[in-house]
Amino acid sequence: MSETNKIRVAIFGGSGYGGSELLRILLFHPNAEVRLVTANEHAGKAVGEVHKNLFGMTDLRFEKAPEELLTLTNIDVAFFALPHGQALDVVPQLLPNIKVIDLSGDFRIDDADVFKQFYKLEHTATDLQTKFVYGLTETNREAVKSAQYIANPGCFATATLLALAPIVKSGMLTGKVIVDAKTGSSGSGAKPASNTHHPQRMNSFYAYKPFTHQHVPEIEQHLKEVGSFQSDLVFMTHSLPVARGIFASCYLETNVQLSNEDLRNLYAHFYKDAFFVRMVEGSPDINWVKTTNFCDIAVHTSGKQVVVFSAIDNLVKGAAGQAVQNMNLMFGIGETTGLRMVGTNP
Ligand SMILES: NC(=O)c1ccc[n+]([C@@H]2O[C@H](COP(=O)([O-])OP(=O)(O)OC[C@H]3O[C@@H](n4cnc5c(N)ncnc54)[C@H](OP(=O)(O)O)[C@@H]3O)[C@@H](O)[C@H]2O)c1
Repeated sequence: MSETNKIRVAIFGGSGYGGSELLRILLFHPNAEVRLVTANEHAGKAVGEVHKNLFGMTDLRFEKAPEELLTLTNIDVAFFALPHGQALDVVPQLLPNIKVIDLSGDFRIDDADVFKQFYKLEHTATDLQTKFVYGLTETNREAVKSAQYIANPGCFATATLLALAPIVKSGMLTGKVIVDAKTGSSGSGAKPASNTHHPQRMNSFYAYKPFTHQHVPEIEQHLKEVGSFQSDLVFMTHSLPVARGIFASCYLETNVQLSNEDLRNLYAHFYKDAFFVRMVEGSPDINWVKTTNFCDIAVHTSGKQVVVFSAIDNLVKGAAGQAVQNMNLMFGIGETTGLRMVGTNP
């Protein structure tokens, strides 16, 4: 901790969208102090020059990551918002007393073969992998509190797991689960690509990565930790013509008949201590979670048929917000500190 008793933070990959959100939250966090923020192509520029929403809010500049990482001694926690494969190289080189929260998929998957299958990368830090805790805060709160290393969940995985965890834990799930999920374009990061370019995305809608999305293995892996999950999962991702937000529609069957009230009570009980999960009527709406750390969930049943809707902001609860929620627990401060943000209406 610094002389002012603040958590000293480094952000690797601060110039992208995930990094931008980490800065938006951490620059105003009462217990944190950002000491280092790295970039690649944007190294040397002022933070407010790249993230214009932060103009005038900080004197920080983007730096190249230090080549000799052991010289990084005055840091309590390092956030990684780098493309997949980068944290895998850097984290093993850090001093072991530095806590790590990785927003990429590098340390989410326990099985190196499965990791290779979905990420097309060889896992080069399997020993370190065993020390990582999966940071879905609401289902792993106690493990997060004592963790040194956090693998922050993927954005689709967060929306899906929060929607499915209560029913999996209840033991009432039977048969196949179908998840039909949609994301806004910021899910693909700050660098434009042909499929994320505005003229292609606006007024458009399409599906991608059937059966191959890299969040499938972390969803299955974590559902097996939450309860006895043996169902087949059909997980389908789509691109929405909006910049932010994830909406997941989850279809499943229960082994007993449930009323809407039964199901709602089950979810309300599961999330009774979860400030950031809000049970809503009808349908959630990405409008009301945008720029916030909330996950809004609605449940409906017809006999044994169930549909669960969930909505999050992919960059907040799906990335930087949940990462800070985890940091708060790791350092023994209030879970919602710096995160009680509401969106705008409209
Ligand atoms: N976007 C989301 O909704 C979301 C949600 C959950 C998790 N994530 C994960 O979070 C991570 C970051 O995502 P993002 O959307 O923020 O990506 P992004 O906008 O593309 O940002 C990537 C960051 O990494 C830096 N970078 C790129 N190549 C590099 C290299 N070779 N060496 C060092 N730094 C490099 C970039 O620096 P320059 O810009 O200066 O080149 C930038 O700061 C990814 O692993 C992603 O899967 C993203």
